[in-house]
Amino acid sequence: MSAPLLSVRGVHTYYGNIRALEGVDIEVHRGEIVALIGSNGAGKSTLMMTICGNPRARSGEIIFDGQNITNLPTHEIARLHIAQSPEGRRIFPRMSVLENLQMGSVVAGDAHFEEDLERVFTLFPRLKERIGQRGGTLSGGEQQMLAIARALMSRPRLLLLDEPSLGLAPLIVKQIFDAIRALNEREGLTVFIVEQNAYHALKLAHRGYVMVNGKITLSGPSKDLLTREEVRAAYLEGA
Ligand SMILES: Nc1ncnc2c1ncn2[C@@H]1O[C@H](COP(=O)(O)OP(=O)(O)O)[C@@H](O)[C@H]1O
Ligand SMILES: [Mg+2]
Repeated sequence: MSAPLLSVRGVHTYYGNIRALEGVDIEVHRGEIVALIGSNGAGKSTLMMTICGNPRARSGEIIFDGQNITNLPTHEIARLHIAQSPEGRRIFPRMSVLENLQMGSVVAGDAHFEEDLERVFTLFPRLKERIGQRGGTLSGGEQQMLAIARALMSRPRLLLLDEPSLGLAPLIVKQIFDAIRALNEREGLTVFIVEQNAYHALKLAHRGYVMVNGKITLSGPSKDLLTREEVRAAYLEGA
């Protein structure tokens, strides 16, 4: 098998003296959707943010496309076309939908702007209808679509999604997950998705990892994880 696009090796991350990640190993290959599931407080967001360089890994290595990015400044990591849709969306509330998307396109440059805009509007037609509206006035689902669209405007080679389903109605979650699946199938977009919503994430992903207290406890093909008793009991009860 070819070298992974992203490999996280033995990463430890701390907040002050508090250890949030304890020797995490993860690989994401080109064209894959990989899900990271785990309870609230497990360290999922910390891992995603550590990949982006803030907070920084105290030990271990993060390799992207053969390059050691462990100590790169966050803006240089973004320039490698690693795009993040963070937990809680974090769109710019006072800027319009179009302005938010322009912010996302900075890394990609101007050359493909119109084409990329059409692409995200095809994916999320609601955003086109809301093009002049301020981000902060959108519904939760629309804000999530905008956060993903903004990340896509950077022409990502790796798309990191942190809890895209959080707080959204099932129908909206389906629309968003269908869009991610379509991007992966049509364009081969590589996606690393973090979710408490384990069932949907594992249904979407090819492979998955389970995190407990800052450590990976289980990994494998998603369809295997979906049938594992310890996954069902801890994360899928009632799903
Ligand atoms: N900025 C922070 N300062 C101190 N501790 C934090 C901070 N962010 C997260 N933590 C702690 O790190 C652990 C992992 O949190 P997080 O990565 O947000 O988990 P998850 O995304 O899986 O819910 C938790 O114990 C959380 O309280
Ligand atoms: Mg989180």
